[in-house]
Amino acid sequence: MNLSLDEKLSLVTGVGFWHTKSFGGKIKHLELSDGPHGIRKQAEGAQNNDSEPAICYPTASALACTFDTGIVGRIGDELGKESKEKGVSILLGPGVNMKRSPLCGRNFEYYSEDPYLAGRMATSFINGVQQNGVGTSLKHFAANSQETHRMRSDSVIDERTLREIYLKAFEMTVKAAKPATVMASYNLVNGTYSTENKWMLTDVLRNEWGYEGIVVSDWGACTNLTKAIKAGMDLEMPDSFEVHKNALKKDLEEGNITEEEIDKAVNRILAAIEKYGLTDEEEAAYKAPTMEEFLAKESTKRRHELAYQASVGAGVLLKNEGILPLHPEDKIAVIGDLAVKTRIQGGGSSHINSGAYPTVLDCLKTHYPNLTFARGYDSMVLELDEVMEEEAAAVTKDAEIIVYCGGLTDLAEGEGYDRDTFKMPENQIHLIHKLMELGKKIVFLSFGGAPFEMECLEQFDSVLQMYLGGEAVAEAAVALLTGLENPSGHLAETWPLYMKDTPAYSNFASREKHVLYNEGLFIGYRHYNSRKIPVQFPFGYGLSYTDFEYDNLHVEKTEEGFLVSFTVTNTGNRAGKAVPQLYVRNFKGDFERADVELRDFTKISLNPEESKEVSFKLGPDAFQIYDVSEKKWVIPEGEYGILIGRSVEEIVLSENVYVEGVKDLSIPKPELTVSEEAGERFTITSSYAELSEYSETAKKLLDQTVEMFIQMFPGRGLDDPEVHMMLEMFKDGTADSTTLMSHGRIPYDTLYTIIDEANRNYNSGK
Ligand code: BGC
Repeated sequence: MNLSLDEKLSLVTGVGFWHTKSFGGKIKHLELSDGPHGIRKQAEGAQNNDSEPAICYPTASALACTFDTGIVGRIGDELGKESKEKGVSILLGPGVNMKRSPLCGRNFEYYSEDPYLAGRMATSFINGVQQNGVGTSLKHFAANSQETHRMRSDSVIDERTLREIYLKAFEMTVKAAKPATVMASYNLVNGTYSTENKWMLTDVLRNEWGYEGIVVSDWGACTNLTKAIKAGMDLEMPDSFEVHKNALKKDLEEGNITEEEIDKAVNRILAAIEKYGLTDEEEAAYKAPTMEEFLAKESTKRRHELAYQASVGAGVLLKNEGILPLHPEDKIAVIGDLAVKTRIQGGGSSHINSGAYPTVLDCLKTHYPNLTFARGYDSMVLELDEVMEEEAAAVTKDAEIIVYCGGLTDLAEGEGYDRDTFKMPENQIHLIHKLMELGKKIVFLSFGGAPFEMECLEQFDSVLQMYLGGEAVAEAAVALLTGLENPSGHLAETWPLYMKDTPAYSNFASREKHVLYNEGLFIGYRHYNSRKIPVQFPFGYGLSYTDFEYDNLHVEKTEEGFLVSFTVTNTGNRAGKAVPQLYVRNFKGDFERADVELRDFTKISLNPEESKEVSFKLGPDAFQIYDVSEKKWVIPEGEYGILIGRSVEEIVLSENVYVEGVKDLSIPKPELTVSEEAGERFTITSSYAELSEYSETAKKLLDQTVEMFIQMFPGRGLDDPEVHMMLEMFKDGTADSTTLMSHGRIPYDTLYTIIDEANRNYNSGK
């Protein structure tokens, strides 16, 4: 395709929020849409939560608990088909960032604390989507583990930890599923913005892993196109209204970048357009269905059923002292606002506009028409309400069992901000204590995108954790509570006891720019398990209404590694699904290494008394570590354990094997180095919040914007997840992206004036 120089300079930056340019129909274009657990297709200029009707599947933190790559692949497939129907060429997901702390506000969009599990899930998801001729975007590359200062924080990590933990799921997925795009994250990694990080984008991603697709910036993550393209980024999103293009043009004229370098990005974008793009006519012919039309479609019904199956497979039975499944004769009272405002997803760019499906209360009523109900607390505030509590106590009078619906509410977590506490909302804590005094049996039906400290955990008789299970979560939860379905979800992350026990406790989401990943390799179970720290619930854990036994372990050496096989038998009296997990126990060498690491897993269905043989193949990567001085993956030679577990803490079969490799390997403990930038204190990558400390003009702008948000979202409040995210973006994002996204309300030149003013005042000590 023959593009003029000006067209090439234009193609590397998007048009509007969701498209690449077509130059009046000369070429096809890409339409990109969020992602990941549904399709958020929007008209230009629409507000965040205003998108076309679409299916809302369980979010990634729930999906990973299925430990079922098959269902994740089927969801990917249906999302690919739905994207095709909606004219979406690239679906922006999945997210494989590691859960470094349970407090990251966006953990619900990520799979796991374990790279292997995340990599397997993402691979199935992407294969499912892309087999329909629709691309995906593997995000957020990389080490984007917190929302606080997400556009300015610098993740300082040693190379071995990066390779083995934070880059690993990306590596697995890029190699196995070839995503059409990889999204460069907002943050800096070791002093360089991800969008400008040549080591990450070119040396590792392209040259080592063989990636051939496009690297797209996260929305607003690119502030300097020249540096980004030179580093290996291809496409800036969204529109930067000629500001970045003009700077690129000037850099080209001044010899800071060559046309050949720009051509590389252009050619990669053209190749993606060729494969996934659509014509302007195709786009114009598309008409969005109304919600009514959407819900009437056969495909919507089929996909809703899939969302239900996935949510059933994701629900984790955390505790059961005999009351679950509920009996049809049980007299139950349902307490909790989340029974009527059932949380299906988290807030932010992944917010899906799905149909209004039955709530937990609606579904329970079909089984227990005489149940009693009270909200007990208001999920949109934190303060307790004594009248609501009294009412809750009153409606439980004749009940034998209380089904308490609670957990993390919309106020607690969302994109753009981190949670400020590991505890449950205060009003729920207070209510739970009141309910406990009633002396009834209590089932906790729990929702939320991440672990939290379960108040009075020891006093609940049963706990079923549904995470954010998508549009069918209420139907799935009630099917699990009543025994219509048998729980089979297992935790894809550890539930620690207290915040102080978490690995990144002292250096997570501080307001400091540099975030030191001092805990190194020891995140998630690698930390708790290796250091024998007691937890609420361990990684991989989940109960069932039946029991499984494991025996007959055989480990056979093969040319590639080992073939591990064993038998699982359902010894209970109902059909169920087991999740056998294979961990490798590492020996203690002269280098740091977690005690055990997940290396394979599966999910199998078994009827009562049925047995099945499971086999796993282990290759060299099950034993490798990254040797930074030699710049390569190596196997430390020695004796390893092959462990089969129900969870990381419940190992049921094991055998030792000797693995050949590098003898007496010694790897020094890494040291973290912080890179300080030279130059002026304030630049276009400073935030308006920072600038306002030294610039009156910025301060006024900030105040006006808060006012504007209050007016834009009448009656919603600044705590509302959508408003909260947008406000954080404005205050805390780079001033460059905020200014551009203001669509001219803040003229770009005003930003330069503000930066000068702030630097002047800073330098003169004002
Ligand atoms: C998010 C991405 C998302 C993009 C487009 C960003 O703020 O970090 O995950 O895909 O917006 O909505």
